[in-house]
Amino acid sequence: MDIKEIRSLDFVEVTDEEFKLIRDLIYKNIGINLTEEKRSLVNGRLQKILRKLNFKTFKEYYHFLINDKSGEALSELANVISTNHTFFGREIDHFEYFVDIVLPEIEARAKKTNNFDIRVWSAGCSSGEEPYTLVMLMMEYFGKDYNKWKAGVLATDISLNALEKAKKGIYPDERVQPLPDIFKKKYFNHLPSGEWEIIDVIKREVTFRRFNLMNEKFPFKSPFDVIFCRNVMIYFDEPTRERLVDKFYQFTAPNGYLFIGHSETLNRAKTKYLYLKPAVYKKA
Ligand SMILES: C[S@@+](CC[C@H](N)C(=O)[O-])C[C@H]1O[C@@H](n2cnc3c(N)ncnc32)[C@H](O)[C@@H]1O
Repeated sequence: MDIKEIRSLDFVEVTDEEFKLIRDLIYKNIGINLTEEKRSLVNGRLQKILRKLNFKTFKEYYHFLINDKSGEALSELANVISTNHTFFGREIDHFEYFVDIVLPEIEARAKKTNNFDIRVWSAGCSSGEEPYTLVMLMMEYFGKDYNKWKAGVLATDISLNALEKAKKGIYPDERVQPLPDIFKKKYFNHLPSGEWEIIDVIKREVTFRRFNLMNEKFPFKSPFDVIFCRNVMIYFDEPTRERLVDKFYQFTAPNGYLFIGHSETLNRAKTKYLYLKPAVYKKA
């Protein structure tokens, strides 16, 4: 018996009923809308979890998911279903806009009100490249005045696996490539392995938390000046996106910004945000 035959012996085939159960659970709890075409992909990707947990059917796995109150099972499922792919400097025009328009505006306001508070949220931060970049940019922009500010970034994701990588802050060379050399020198340690590790000064400025964007209630006390939620809503359908964007709106400060991914769209007729330019919106 060759390795392929051995593998096929413990391959668990999902039934129609099980696929529907799991698809509905994913839609309701993670927001991702899986079509029938994704069935074999889901079936394949979940084999490893089934094997690890020793489940013989998807029904058993489904019951495990609905009875898990810790959220860890859902986090593991999200990790397998969604993509965590990201890199430093992704969609760089957003970072340019952040430095050229958003920060000066917030700075001017702070000088008037004497309130040096800036609240930034990276929602769906994956392995941390986006929030770390935002901190580096704020440090560059404010220079030695950075410490005058109550700044930092809240970075959330549903995937514990992604958050662990984010907290470690160690990246392969290709993921760091788009950054200017000066950033690499200033904000990373170059490890003997060739990887790059974010320095502690930057790590300390990011608070990583597990948070599911499908949660009914957002637990924040104050609104955010800037929300980055990029390349997270790609697999959400329109009603899910609209509900989420409404919640973002509630938690955006007046004159605050929402950045979404370039391949994502908001229904401009329905959203309360003001459209500024592709993938950039403002609560005006
Ligand atoms: C492709 S990454 C985006 C990373 C970064 N924002 C970027 O633009 O490169 C998408 C992330 O969204 C997270 N995600 C998907 N559904 C989520 C949900 N319901 N709640 C929170 N995070 C979610 C995934 O775990 C993944 O890390």
